[in-house]
Amino acid sequence: MHISTNALCLTLFLFATATLSSPLLTTNTLRDRSTPVKARSPANTSVNPQAVTGTTCDDPSVALVSHDTNVAILSICGGIAGAIEFCGGDPATTVGASGTAKFTLTASNADAGATINVSKGRWEGCVRAAQATCPTGTFTSICVGGTSDGAGFEFVLSANN
Ligand SMILES: *[C@@H]1O[C@H](CO)[C@@H](O)[C@H](O)[C@H]1NC(C)=O
Ligand SMILES: *[C@@H]1O[C@H](CO)[C@@H](O)[C@H](O)[C@H]1NC(C)=O
Repeated sequence: MHISTNALCLTLFLFATATLSSPLLTTNTLRDRSTPVKARSPANTSVNPQAVTGTTCDDPSVALVSHDTNVAILSICGGIAGAIEFCGGDPATTVGASGTAKFTLTASNADAGATINVSKGRWEGCVRAAQATCPTGTFTSICVGGTSDGAGFEFVLSANN
């Protein structure tokens, strides 16, 4: 008689545990399903100085609005904003301009038929590296790689007059 009473108690205990825990499981399941929006990955702020060569600060006194510069970065190659991850169209040269700022990119070996197909990540890394050397004003630099021949391209940040 004792044994069957214990067995009954154990059965009730297990049933109660399962019943109590099930709302938690349901809540977690609903929460997992209710997060379809993936968080936007934070902006990459790391600087690799070797991403560029030959950076020259042309005129540090030129006042460029940083928001304009950021929009100009995404305006090269007819636009590389949003889901676009590469410079499309294989141009030998391209301009990205907005407000006060203008980027002019030219494949180092454009004369030999080289074209620009840089990824957005590499391009942004080249701009950060040049800005680390020239934090204000205009500059000229060479982005390593990002072209059909791998030799890179010159990029000039100038006032968009
Ligand atoms: C961030 O930028 C650095 C320097 O340009 C680069 O080496 C690295 O791959 C980038 N990281 C991501 C996640 O894009
Ligand atoms: C750029 O072009 C070169 C040569 O065609 C190719 O090897 C490379 O994968 C291209 N890069 C991109 C990002 O499309």
